Amino acid sequence: MAVALPERTDAGVYFIGRIRTPWTRREDCPKNPAASDAPCTIALDPGFAAGLAELDTFSHLIVLYWMDRAARDLVVQRPRSHGAPRGVFALRSPARPNPIALSCVRLERIDGADLHVRGLDCVDGTPLIDIKPYLPSIDSHPDASFGWKSAVTSTREHGNPS
Ligand SMILES: C[S@@+](CC[C@H](N)C(=O)[O-])C[C@H]1O[C@@H](n2cnc3c(N)ncnc32)[C@H](O)[C@@H]1O
Repeated sequence: MAVALPERTDAGVYFIGRIRTPWTRREDCPKNPAASDAPCTIALDPGFAAGLAELDTFSHLIVLYWMDRAARDLVVQRPRSHGAPRGVFALRSPARPNPIALSCVRLERIDGADLHVRGLDCVDGTPLIDIKPYLPSIDSHPDASFGWKSAVTSTREHGNPS
């Protein structure tokens, strides 16, 4: 179900780099970061490289990126693998009013302004919005529920929510 979007946006973002991945088409991307261990590169614009100081002390990062090929007006959607319509805010779909995606990635190494990581699911060239350290004490919730996905996915998929 599509809705009318507001006439103007409320804020500006800087695309601070691009994400380099092996996939050029959306349909070839992994469904979620846990579905692939392919090496990818976060190419931060060199002007922001000073902001990487000490980041290599972390094993995992939270990466925020802009799903530039996604629709923005679909507030109810049928997930690819699960037929019933769901509200966009109960989905990890790239199509949302602000098409911001997040993944928790494993950091392998940093070369200058290039971050070599594993655990991404976007097409090559996807704009980068932000990078933050993943902090297990804050970001990990082993007791979290799987919501509506509990009823429709297998135990194996519970490790790979999309
Ligand atoms: C289900 S989304 C999950 C994104 C992110 N891991 C999250 O949870 O917010 C991943 C899918 O988005 C699609 N996709 C990848 N790159 C995209 C882009 N630049 N614009 C729109 N859709 C994209 C692909 O179909 C991919 O399988």
